[in-house]
Amino acid sequence: MATAIRPNVRSYQMYINGEWVDSASGKSFPVYDPSTEEVIAEVPDANAKDVDRAVQAAREAFDNGAWRSTTAQERGRVLFRLAERVRKEAAMLAELECRNTGKPIVEAEYDIADVATCFEYYGGLATKVVGYVNPVPDNALSLSMKEPVGVAGQIIPWNYPLLMAAWKLAPALAAGCTCVLKPAEQTPLTVLEMANWFADVGLPPGVVNIVTGFGETAGAPLVTHAGVDKVAFTGSAAVGKHIVKMAADTVKRVTLELGGKSPNIFFADADFEAAIDGALFGVFVNQGEVCSAGSRILVEKSIYSKFVEAMADKAKKIRLGPPLERETKMGPLVSKEQYERVRGYQEAGKKEAKLAAGGGRPASIGKGYYVEPTIFYDVKNSAKIAREEIFGPVAAVIPFQDEGEALKIANDTPYGLAAAVWTRDIFKAMRAVKALRAGIVWVNHMQPTYVEAPWGGYKQSGFGRELGPSGIEEYLETKQVHINLNEQPIGWYS
Ligand code: NAI
Ligand code: MG
Repeated sequence: MATAIRPNVRSYQMYINGEWVDSASGKSFPVYDPSTEEVIAEVPDANAKDVDRAVQAAREAFDNGAWRSTTAQERGRVLFRLAERVRKEAAMLAELECRNTGKPIVEAEYDIADVATCFEYYGGLATKVVGYVNPVPDNALSLSMKEPVGVAGQIIPWNYPLLMAAWKLAPALAAGCTCVLKPAEQTPLTVLEMANWFADVGLPPGVVNIVTGFGETAGAPLVTHAGVDKVAFTGSAAVGKHIVKMAADTVKRVTLELGGKSPNIFFADADFEAAIDGALFGVFVNQGEVCSAGSRILVEKSIYSKFVEAMADKAKKIRLGPPLERETKMGPLVSKEQYERVRGYQEAGKKEAKLAAGGGRPASIGKGYYVEPTIFYDVKNSAKIAREEIFGPVAAVIPFQDEGEALKIANDTPYGLAAAVWTRDIFKAMRAVKALRAGIVWVNHMQPTYVEAPWGGYKQSGFGRELGPSGIEEYLETKQVHINLNEQPIGWYS
């Protein structure tokens, strides 16, 4: 529930056990508009006490509540109703997402449409979860039954706030789980607005709880809580590694999506115009705050100079500005912290590579966490800007001599979320598809993402898959059931 405490500053409560509540400590923290650097809201600053309350509510709703006995059809209908509500309120949600993240309004509108699609997809999938009959060599019926894993603790980042919430909540609810979701501290607003409709669409108290707070004080207690059965996390590799360790003591199921340093590979025979567009879109969409950003751009030597020049020309024309203006193609970064991190990489890049475009903050914009779309070239794959995830509009262009070298550089990274390859040679494309060690491979495109298709990484980009049918599997346990059909004693001790 939100009320205005100062003009333009709304004070939110968080949603636990079907009620709007303050934090146990009474503390709250500010939420910003990164394009103006101004506070737009206050939200409760949850700690372990609040998390415990939320987990107990989710536990009760799972163990003894009505959700446990709902049919798959009923759960599906709840998700359809939620999708409908999201569509109805899409303009409000997109505007709020835009203001809170700084992403261009047009991109925010796509995100909100994807949120609705995600709830619909899993609403449909709820009734398609099936088990097996196992052909055991005895007079028995052996079944594999699918059951919800239980209480899911879900921790999400700030780059696609409501969409990441949907990716987590939709499959969990379809499977029959209950949820405690912690949005990123930078961007908790849209999911709180969505929580206004939970009761209306038929989610009983405790089935979805939204706890707002910081990583160490609200995220960590959620990961270690004995009442949580599974943790789903999207965020930084550092926190992901920490989560695996924290979850070990209670042997929780864990799924992780940890971003990457994804290669976008351009062979000389690719359509040149499409390639330039694809290179820019791959790394600059959403200000480059994308886990699958094509941040290493590998270009065949015969087209290399022309490519860097064309990319730089176009990058300089990208329209930065107020996120709410429809012509804006790039807004500010999400926070001061992220701005400083990305500025640091821009400076690091100048010491280890050549600069073709950008490199600082735009001179024409006064306030806001804006940085210029930045292109470094002649980057060594061993350079800091080629190894570390930047999560901002900073591209590292790396030349290669031939196919073998391209694939070797592409795979030379601890990450493995995504990769893309551009060529008109089907044999070359297919060889790359096979050789690339990544969970998502695009050919002659980069970034299209569909709820129908699995999403997740190889190597240190994480484990488990979201979206598609695999997305719901991560919220299911398998129960093996043996039904003896033989009415005789076992006879072992007779
Ligand atoms: P982060 O990993 O710290 O934050 C992501 C989420 O994890 C937030 O909800 C945060 O509150 C929570 N969290 C943080 N520390 C935690 C802890 N100890 N226990 C439990 N939960 C915790 O990411 P941050 O600091 O916002 O961004 C740092 C870098 O992480 C970015 O520059 C980017 O490289 C990467 N990142 C990757 C994302 C992806 O989609 N894979 C998303 C966001 C960030
Ligand atoms: Mg962090």
